Amino acid sequence: MPQDLTIARVLHILAVVVWIGGVAMVTSVIIPAVRRMKNKGEMLAMFEELEGRFSLQAKWMTLLAGLTGFYMLYRLDAWDRYLQLRYWWIHAMTLVWLLFTVVIFILEPYVLHAWFQKMGEKAPERTFRIIQRFHWVLLLLSLLTIAGAMAGAHGWFWVN
Ligand code: HEM
Repeated sequence: MPQDLTIARVLHILAVVVWIGGVAMVTSVIIPAVRRMKNKGEMLAMFEELEGRFSLQAKWMTLLAGLTGFYMLYRLDAWDRYLQLRYWWIHAMTLVWLLFTVVIFILEPYVLHAWFQKMGEKAPERTFRIIQRFHWVLLLLSLLTIAGAMAGAHGWFWVN
């Protein structure tokens, strides 16, 4: 395999590991721990602090995963995969990437941050329940995508 493609693949996976690994950590460790805190004010501040730090990492990693992903499609001249069902995992990767891009670059700074402040004050438990569900949906979708992409990139397509 040409070296630039291998480098793109390595960077793609490193970005995915840091990014989706972080999502797994926030979903399965941080949110449950924050939800158990007694002081509601501290709960909101702590979550904002932790998620805020991760958000910057997630932005860079999303950017890197997107750039290397599209670069591989371009180098493999594989755009027609978007027209084939057996490459559903290419669609899934693009969808996961788009979802996160919209959430972290647009919705979070312009809509969700204000919503979290307002709802978090009024009904912290309900707010965290919603946030946790939303994170689980994104995480499970991402893991299914990773499984499909790993299998597909190595010749096991699941559907034909
Ligand atoms: C715009 C977004 C993305 C594009 C265009 C893209 C594109 C690609 C391409 C072209 C490949 C190589 C396929 C092959 O060797 O046949 C690949 C591999 C892979 N991608 Fe993505 N990707 C994107 C986002 C993602 C995301 C969000 C994830 C994880 C949730 C992901 C996980 C993977 C994995 C696990 C592989 C398999 C690597 C291997 O085993 O060789 N990708 N991607």
